[in-house]
Amino acid sequence: MSEEGVGMAQEEESNDNDLLQAEAHVLNLTFSFITSMSLKCAIQLGIPDIIQNHGQPITLSELAASIPITPTKTAFLQRLMRLLVHSGIFAIQENEENRVEKEQGYVLTPSSKILLSTRTGVSPFLLMTTDSVLVLPWHFLSSWFIGNEPTAFETAHGTSLWGYTANHPEFNNLFNKAMASDTQLVMSIIVKELAPVFHGLRSLVDVGGGTGTAATIIAEAFPQVKCTVFDLPHVVETLPKDSIIHAVGGDMFESIPHADAVLLKWLLHICSDEECVKILRRCKEAIPSKEEGGKVIILEMVLNANKDHKLMETQLYFDVLMLVNTKGREREEHEWRKIFMDAGFDDYKISPVLGLRSLIEVYPS
Ligand SMILES: C[S@@+](CC[C@H](N)C(=O)[O-])C[C@H]1O[C@@H](n2cnc3c(N)ncnc32)[C@H](O)[C@@H]1O
Repeated sequence: MSEEGVGMAQEEESNDNDLLQAEAHVLNLTFSFITSMSLKCAIQLGIPDIIQNHGQPITLSELAASIPITPTKTAFLQRLMRLLVHSGIFAIQENEENRVEKEQGYVLTPSSKILLSTRTGVSPFLLMTTDSVLVLPWHFLSSWFIGNEPTAFETAHGTSLWGYTANHPEFNNLFNKAMASDTQLVMSIIVKELAPVFHGLRSLVDVGGGTGTAATIIAEAFPQVKCTVFDLPHVVETLPKDSIIHAVGGDMFESIPHADAVLLKWLLHICSDEECVKILRRCKEAIPSKEEGGKVIILEMVLNANKDHKLMETQLYFDVLMLVNTKGREREEHEWRKIFMDAGFDDYKISPVLGLRSLIEVYPS
């Protein structure tokens, strides 16, 4: 072959390679949902708990025997587990006690340890996000872009997320459980590692605080702080009567109960910039001046606060999740600053110490 011919053949080969790599990349992205749905299946079958309770690597047949699956489906279970081992959810390890047969078994990894039902973890959040109620709006995203509804959730369900939770107790329960489990995980770290945030406070109100998980954890850790949860009436009405926290139902756009500090956890990211400013103005009315200890404590993501590629990718997933289901978004620091200043606050401090999220303290004058 002439030199020119060799050059052309090499170029063609490299084009073919690029094409095949592009195909592999796009198909990998196309199939991302297979990991989350397989994970959902593993949680629904109770696999993380079964592995944990077994106390040593569990073989496929032992695992299959512990789940009420149809016996002929054991081989299918192996294929599900193979994918989840590849994704780092489970791992394979040799069973120490079975040295003769050198049997291998499944074990938990740090990622599946936070899927256990006995721990504060992310299983309820995963079950909510992969529920058909929240999957349906994705099918309407492109029609939403060319239509007039405020969110793709409304295009799909004909009502807002809050309208839907108010009228569907089962989904409301799933949603509140997901929020509560996330809150349990984050707040248990905050009261341990970031206790000075609560020092000097006599009272705190958790606005949009769901079923009161955060307020209860703070009240237990700091009994001198009188804690109130404030949320929509249908949410707080499920709170037990003997709770150590006070529950108030209402609309945060109207008014917020008075306290030294207002906690806003994962609330502002469901709101538009205008709504954030409105809520923060209500917060400013509810708290005393900075000298008297007044502040707003916000737990939210700050895009670009952390340069880790995977963290950033997860934050961008959250941003589009907010776009699909709410009027909210995830924000960069300069976007937060503008909101705080527009609401009449003078000063703020961002501590990017909570993985995906940051602790933001906002002070009035
Ligand atoms: C994303 S959830 C966050 C819940 C909780 N802060 C947490 O992180 O677990 C938002 C909460 O805001 C509440 N909410 C929505 N609109 C509200 C309103 N107008 N007034 C009070 N609460 C509201 C919802 O009921 C829900 O509990």
